[in-house]
Amino acid sequence: MADASGNKIAKNYYTDVPVKNEGFYLKGLNGYDWGIKDRMTRMFNPKSGRTVMLAFDHGYIMGPTAGLERMDITVTPLIEYADVLMCTRGALRSCVPANSNKPVALRCSTGATLLRELSYECIGVNIDDAIRLNASAMAIQVFAGAEFEHNSLKNLAETVDAGVRYGIPTLGVTAVGKDMVRDARYLGMATRVCAELGCQFVKTYYCSEGFEEVVAGCPVPIVIAGGKKLPEDEALEMCWNAINEGAAGVDMGRNIFQAQDPIAMIQAVREIVHNNETAEKAYQLYCDTKK
Ligand code: 5RP
Repeated sequence: MADASGNKIAKNYYTDVPVKNEGFYLKGLNGYDWGIKDRMTRMFNPKSGRTVMLAFDHGYIMGPTAGLERMDITVTPLIEYADVLMCTRGALRSCVPANSNKPVALRCSTGATLLRELSYECIGVNIDDAIRLNASAMAIQVFAGAEFEHNSLKNLAETVDAGVRYGIPTLGVTAVGKDMVRDARYLGMATRVCAELGCQFVKTYYCSEGFEEVVAGCPVPIVIAGGKKLPEDEALEMCWNAINEGAAGVDMGRNIFQAQDPIAMIQAVREIVHNNETAEKAYQLYCDTKK
């Protein structure tokens, strides 16, 4: 068994040696069945190998979050610019037109609100409903180091089991508890644990030091969350840094739907993610497009 302390620090990430993606264009996924690959292909553009996911699942713990008070008004105009919608089944059925024809990363862990211990989650959507909603992925939050770490890891493992049975990928979402530091050591550990438990892609936060090693240490694609609202130019710079350091895309919420002009912002993010545009040019595009 691995020891919990006294271990050598992991440092040989070979960040200058790209992983060979033989047979399938996304890192670490060649061994999967057709259904998983098909759904990953719907979410990750085969040309760029990347994705722009729009996260608006915040209400499941926060209630009516700023920018999401009326999802029918604020989210609907963004749908056409997103590659994937990440939301709860409640939001999907009530506010997203079924003819949107966008892949959905369905929020499937639940059981807590901002008022109590966030890590006390369970699986809140069974596989039947995920299939009924034609989910392209099921998203499960993992709380490494938090009080209910064990429950969250079990939620992930059980969802992976159900997902591979029916060809639906699982997205491991690394939540960072209030006592944790969002540094490369923590994020590297949390993302790797998600991948080792079998999820096909991982959502985590960007860190300004060592993010390349977080990506290198995770054998499947990583997408970054946007986190709390930043000024638009800073959010675009974070996005560029993450992509430049190996992220396979973004799963961004507040920095899009709370932007002064959310439609201009998601288009600017797309320029970076799919067209390798610089943060400066993307910000210029944002300013030019902004109403
Ligand atoms: C929490 C989530 C969020 O709902 C989502 O990621 C938040 O996105 P953003 O930080 O970009 O607003 O998954 O872990």
